[in-house]
Amino acid sequence: MDRLRIVGGQRLQGAVTISGAKNAALPQIAAALLSPYPLELTNLPQVSDVENMLNVVALHGAEVSRAAHSTTIDARAILSKETSYDTVRRMRATVLVLAPLLARFGEARVSLPGGCAIGARPVDMHIKALAALGAEIDIENGLIVASTNGGLTGARVVLPSPSVGATETAMMAATTAKGETEILNAAREPEVADLAACLTAMGARIEGAGTHRILVEGSTTWQPAKHHGIPDRIEAGTYAVAAAITGGMLELTNARLENMASVVQALEAMGVSVWPSDRGLVVSRDGPLKGADLTTEPYPGFPTDLQAQFMALAACAEGASLIRETVFESRFMHVPELMRLGVNVSLQGTTALVRGGAKLKGAQVMATDLRASVSLVLAGLVSEGETIVNRLYHLDRGYEQLDRKLKLCGADIERLSA
Ligand code: UD1
Repeated sequence: MDRLRIVGGQRLQGAVTISGAKNAALPQIAAALLSPYPLELTNLPQVSDVENMLNVVALHGAEVSRAAHSTTIDARAILSKETSYDTVRRMRATVLVLAPLLARFGEARVSLPGGCAIGARPVDMHIKALAALGAEIDIENGLIVASTNGGLTGARVVLPSPSVGATETAMMAATTAKGETEILNAAREPEVADLAACLTAMGARIEGAGTHRILVEGSTTWQPAKHHGIPDRIEAGTYAVAAAITGGMLELTNARLENMASVVQALEAMGVSVWPSDRGLVVSRDGPLKGADLTTEPYPGFPTDLQAQFMALAACAEGASLIRETVFESRFMHVPELMRLGVNVSLQGTTALVRGGAKLKGAQVMATDLRASVSLVLAGLVSEGETIVNRLYHLDRGYEQLDRKLKLCGADIERLSA
């Protein structure tokens, strides 16, 4: 298994190209199953979660063809309406194929998902949303078995909390339903709005995506489509922390300020400067880092997917920081590994108290999930001596060429192949 070797102490400087958003790409690949016409996606990041999702739609019979900067998914003929445990166990987002298969064929069988070990992560809201549109759903031997009696019917779907995935499931299913669907308490994440933009290009009629109330007019007439996905705001936030933690300056090409307000606010509160450039955002720090209190929340709040990275940053600040996780119930697996590098954290339930000013020292550490792994890399960038990050496959799920991008702006980092 590949490992990363990092020698800390280099100040990062230069430009980093931010890839397409993984969390926008995954539902869009699933959405291709809705239509009998090809969907061309032109900003897919080269990460293993995207590969995995492309394999999943290919296993369903979709034809996947690649050119230099675009991938076309043609789901004209679908051979299989069942997604096996083997294909979904590695990635929870595979549950996103359930709604498109059901909406198009009136039946689907999808294994209950696996994925990052960050809490129980049930799929009850996905199931309730489909049931509200008239689907019959059972769980049989670890499979979600869904069917409709003559198709889905538009309805009001009220989500108990604004789940990103459940909003996407409801929106996709509603495109083929008879009549109008209203999704209330919808997730407002930019990736939800980008899925709506992609579905609209495919022929769907959707209003309000990006707000709490989404309206979908059903019975879509599908058409061939092309869509360029949004840049990855979590990847951008991660490199912003890399600039801040090393006291460097990075231009994040393609990053968008409007999708990152809460992240920029947190950076500024910690003494980091952020300003827009012609190509994206510039992040720089030359003064001291200050501690700050952070609470993760659904968008537009501070993203849970940047919590671990900001913990590494807080460890290097003057003073203490309180970090509260409210989205997932157990998302602090990075804490024991960060502590191996000298990070000073006390955990109480869903709150972490990070005492700043730690002198970090390199060590062997183990990645436990995607964002946890990258927090170890960030801490390694400022740890004295050598840090080895094991179990890199977590990192490869969501960061395109992380080691190469960091090396290009001055990090002492190399990938050690098994
Ligand atoms: C998406 C992102 C993930 C991010 C998360 C929160 C993708 C592919 N992944 O995940 O990177 O961390 O949003 O921003 O886009 N929940 C239920 N029942 C459900 C669904 C969710 O209880 O049916 C709970 C989850 O356990 C969690 C919370 O709701 O506590 C939010 O989850 P959700 O917004 O659904 O996250 P995902 O769509 O899985």
